[in-house]
Amino acid sequence: MDNLIIKNAAQLVTCSGFEGKRGRESDLRVIENGTVIITGGIISHILNQGEPLPVNPDDYNVIDATGKALLPGFVDPHTHFVFGGYREEEFSWRMRGDSYMAIMERGGGIVNTTRATREATEEELIASGRQRLDAMLRLGITTVEGKSGYGLDRETELKQLRVMQHLNETHPVEVVSTYMGAHAIPQEWKGREDAFIDFQITEMLPLVAGEGLADAADIFCEKGVFSIDQSRRYLQAAASHGLKPKMHADEIVPLGGAELAAELRCLSADHLLRASDRGIAALAATGTVATLLPLTAFSLREAYARARKMIDSGCIVALATDLNPGSSFTASVPLLFALACIYMQLTPEEAVTAFTLNSAAALGRADRIGSIDVGKQGDLLLLQFHSYKFLPYHVGMNIVERVIKKGEVVV
Ligand code: NIG
Ligand code: FE
Repeated sequence: MDNLIIKNAAQLVTCSGFEGKRGRESDLRVIENGTVIITGGIISHILNQGEPLPVNPDDYNVIDATGKALLPGFVDPHTHFVFGGYREEEFSWRMRGDSYMAIMERGGGIVNTTRATREATEEELIASGRQRLDAMLRLGITTVEGKSGYGLDRETELKQLRVMQHLNETHPVEVVSTYMGAHAIPQEWKGREDAFIDFQITEMLPLVAGEGLADAADIFCEKGVFSIDQSRRYLQAAASHGLKPKMHADEIVPLGGAELAAELRCLSADHLLRASDRGIAALAATGTVATLLPLTAFSLREAYARARKMIDSGCIVALATDLNPGSSFTASVPLLFALACIYMQLTPEEAVTAFTLNSAAALGRADRIGSIDVGKQGDLLLLQFHSYKFLPYHVGMNIVERVIKKGEVVV
């Protein structure tokens, strides 16, 4: 039964809104001792303390949330969770001082995972992907974006997208697929980067869009990977096929990725560790979401993105885990909140907004998920504690007690 009443939550943290919130506009609209009613999987009522129930409780499952905070389910808008193999050896090289890009240039990195993903069967990728989704769900993630990009050839890219489609249909976590055929240059295209982008534009983007296998398209715009001009060509073609453009931008070198994302009205620009002042101003002037990935900066031992400057300039800031086998092999939501608040100086309110409503906006879905508003999907989580402020404060601990997807208790 997807009819559910969750009554008397110490804090009903609504995050109310239907589009991304800019800058300091991060009021979470908390209702004390509030009740939420989900009818047929959709939030139908939000009640203040003492308001009479407008439905017959016999038709509903009931959860008593006394003493606990109730929030929207978390939305993770940037991951690469479908992949074959692991890269623990590269991690130990990095800890010794090798850089991420140096390892990539030697044929490691993304291309290493590409080899293993090409070899993996669809069933193997489904099995490992499902385990990762199980772990994310326990941490409160009810919607996740997943990227292809470990195939870099026609067959394997389609395999990754089909795996995500299958998981979306069979797992409680909702999976939003992004095509990332331009994640790196595969061995067989080395030195022919422009021709590889042509292949993406003439073959892959129309194919993926035509089959309805992805919502969005992404590219690794970076020195030594794909240039600004190549990114512009690829993303314009993607948009012309109805795939929403997204970018890995200004992660390692300030190439002007943020500026390009704003120019192309991308759904989001992600990473942004080295985004320039001009890039930040350009993002603030558009609806392009600045998606920040503190677990990646932490794992690569890089300086964090300038989140305070972005928020204070009026950007819509989202957070994501970036779960992948290389730069951020973690989906630790607790660590994400701790880093965002302790090292990037987000307030707890800004961090919660960034991982609910604003991350939904980074997927173009803020009208459906990311907040507790009447008419939205009944995706919620209940904390063990009475306040959302425990999310960054109880460092590194999973304090999610229950998770609800479309009105069904799934954890
Ligand atoms: O978002 N920077 C590029 N892509 C991924 C890493 C992928 C990998 O190393 O396998 C990222 O960090
Ligand atoms: Fe990424």
